[in-house]
Amino acid sequence: MNERETLKINKSGHLEIGGADTVELASRFGTPLYVFDEDYIRKMMRIYRRTLDDKYSGNGTVLYASKAFSCMAIYKIAQSEGLGVDVVSGGELYTAIKAGFPASKICMHGNNKLIKELTFALDNRVGLIVVDSCREADIIDKLAGERNFKQNVLIRINPGVEAHTHAYIQTARTDSKFGFAVADGAAEDITKYVLSKNNINLRGYHCHIGSQIFEKQSFVLAAQKVIDFMSEMKTKLGFEADTLNIGGGFGVWYTDEDPKLKPEDYSGYLCALIDAIKNKSAEHGLRLPHLMLEPGRSIVGEAGITLYTVGAIKDIPGIRKYVAIDGGMFDNPRYALYQSKYTVILANRASEECTEKVSVSGKCCESGDLIAVGVPLPRAESGDILAVLTTGAYNYSMASNYNRNFVPPAVLVKDGKAEYIVRPQTYEDLIRNDEIPDRLK
Ligand code: LLP
Repeated sequence: MNERETLKINKSGHLEIGGADTVELASRFGTPLYVFDEDYIRKMMRIYRRTLDDKYSGNGTVLYASKAFSCMAIYKIAQSEGLGVDVVSGGELYTAIKAGFPASKICMHGNNKLIKELTFALDNRVGLIVVDSCREADIIDKLAGERNFKQNVLIRINPGVEAHTHAYIQTARTDSKFGFAVADGAAEDITKYVLSKNNINLRGYHCHIGSQIFEKQSFVLAAQKVIDFMSEMKTKLGFEADTLNIGGGFGVWYTDEDPKLKPEDYSGYLCALIDAIKNKSAEHGLRLPHLMLEPGRSIVGEAGITLYTVGAIKDIPGIRKYVAIDGGMFDNPRYALYQSKYTVILANRASEECTEKVSVSGKCCESGDLIAVGVPLPRAESGDILAVLTTGAYNYSMASNYNRNFVPPAVLVKDGKAEYIVRPQTYEDLIRNDEIPDRLK
């Protein structure tokens, strides 16, 4: 097992997270269960914030990309660590505001923000909106005018950097539903357009080159290209951006095929970016922009695990052994969507040697409902507790009620103690919004 800061094996041979015995967590809260280590989350938030403070004179903001994991408690943690947040829907914005998160420190994204979402954002005076279409600029201008203020915005641009990751999560190519490409002049055109709006205050640019990326050079190149573009806009249009948001995307460890970075190593990514930004800005004679970054996965990914109970085991001799769990694609759709790889552990027998390779299948009525394929495990038995590691990002946030299964609850562990941050659903929750029209009664 790849021993990580947040995980240990205790004397009983049980997996521990943040000092809590996972077998006890499974018996107290039931399974499936998302478990988050609060210290790890805070440590990651601090690493980014301190690096900006120390290496960029504090002229920056870390925005936690809450699409990775959104619930009221995580916004509280982000707030107490001095972070801002990035939201991508009315729902994330509502959750943040209900948690008491200051709207002025919220940055709103989305390639197709709805009028009602933008209205909600302006009514609450969110700090920044990242403009992703001309239509959106029109809507923001109108809404801000009606409210007698100027909305601060960034423009999302595509610097044309390809990040080495799964094709579905590359977002900064010219062929992307997000943003305005630099290459075909769209980024320049939208800059002129937004500058012509009376009720919009253009602060600068945003770019996000993809997710689960380990190549420092991809980030550096993207930042350099955006600054080249900023310089071009200053020369051509007399517009000097004062804010640069370089998005998120730092990779995390899922299996030993991935580099295992320590929280501190992520500071190195940011330092490389900061150096590139300082050098490029100096080269062009630009003043240093306020720097924003939007890490999501690297803050919560490795902080979270999911606990399941093993149920049916199906051995097809010479073909494959399926170990079925009480969860599946409804709590973690990432294998089904991206063939993502995970490390799995028998949490109640964590020090036992792995003797076979199995496929971990879910309980949905769908053959593709798998969590991990061909992974090493000790001989699993019904009733064993199975832990899937690095499920803190894009698991709960992508969960569904498919097959009318429950989205599992989540607990937050601090000093060995666990508390709910998302309560379990009930059958009643599943039918809460259902209606039977009279003619069917
Ligand atoms: N900022 C923007 C504008 C983004 O689109 C994203 C992620 C982030 C920040 C945060 O990126 P991170 O640091 O988490 O890599 N569902 C996929 C991931 C989609 C990422 C979408 N955007 C997955 O499960 O791998």
